[in-house]
Amino acid sequence: MYAQMVKSSGEGVKTAGEMDAQERAFQSRIDAGEKIEPKDWMPAAYRKTLIRQIGQHAHSEIVGQLPEGNWITRAPTLERKANLLAKVQDEAGHGLYLYCAAETLGVSRDELFDMLHTGKMKYSSIFNYPTLTWADMGAVGWLVDGAAIMNQVPLQRTSYGPYARAMVRICKEESFHQRQGFHIMMTMCNGSVAQKEMAQDALNRFWYPSLMMFGPSDKDSVHSAQSMAWKIKMDSNDDLRQRFVNATAPQAEFLGLTIPDDKLAFNEDTQQYDFSEPDWEEFYEVLKGNGPCNRDRLETRQRAWSDGEWVREGMMAHADKRRNANQTAA
Ligand code: 3HC
Repeated sequence: MYAQMVKSSGEGVKTAGEMDAQERAFQSRIDAGEKIEPKDWMPAAYRKTLIRQIGQHAHSEIVGQLPEGNWITRAPTLERKANLLAKVQDEAGHGLYLYCAAETLGVSRDELFDMLHTGKMKYSSIFNYPTLTWADMGAVGWLVDGAAIMNQVPLQRTSYGPYARAMVRICKEESFHQRQGFHIMMTMCNGSVAQKEMAQDALNRFWYPSLMMFGPSDKDSVHSAQSMAWKIKMDSNDDLRQRFVNATAPQAEFLGLTIPDDKLAFNEDTQQYDFSEPDWEEFYEVLKGNGPCNRDRLETRQRAWSDGEWVREGMMAHADKRRNANQTAA
């Protein structure tokens, strides 16, 4: 169904004059801040854009478990292990809320998984980078969850009801994730010289990939204009990236760490931080599947899917048996 939907949001924003009466009425509801619910009429391209964004978001949560799951058995204390375990479980939960939200648009979960496993649907570029040391658990929580919150808090006001409501709980949990990451960084920065060096190294490796999470610069963003008109996105990629840098630069200073950017400086005129753009060539290479961990991440998800087949079959057989028993009893 998803593949058959024709017009994508990348094909330009229709003016009021180009819209038919139904589309104009729909746009007026969006402009008035009304929520669109699953059974309401919506343009096919609005539905398609939502399935794309929510699906990618769900996949990001699920694939995002992998770099951190990698460290559960090696957490330095029982408390850190419990926190990390809880965080990784939260990400699975976020994936499930988001898959449910996507299903309300008429796409099945099996279709979504199939698109992930066959590379037809993306997940966030950030999860194609490796987590090499324990300090990376700090950097991921602080920077990656920090960037995720910056993007997702405004999405609580997005126009599609099930997506907006899913984001409320997700944001509460992401905020805990960000704090536990910052706490790991703070502990390492107050530790030995070697620990502080590990924290700096993690910041060096995760800074630019975190900036890339917000997507290409506005001039290269394919979907932003239409998605913002439909309030599927509330802010542009560059605006969110700037807000993230403004919030994070003072936190790095507090930790006594140096953001790996010679151009980073507070600009008194704009009252914002100036900073260097990420390497966009690297970003597009990662999107094409050529990041350091793309193949490994996808293979792990494909393997988990085929290893879980007997569980799915067992669950379905049990559900069928119960349904038959209920029908016989009735
Ligand atoms: N990684 C992978 N693909 C990306 C990307 C990224 N960081 N940024 C952009 N892209 C892709 C887009 O999906 C689009 O490709 P497509 O047409 O094949 O779908 C293309 O690059 C062009 O970018 P656009 O700016 O036009 O795309 P969008 O308007 O969709 O904006 C976005 C990209 C800002 C990521 C937007 O989709 C969004 O806000 N999504 C919701 C939030 C989300 O998905 N977050 C994932 C973060 S990780 C996470 O939440 C896990 C947590 O536990 C940390």
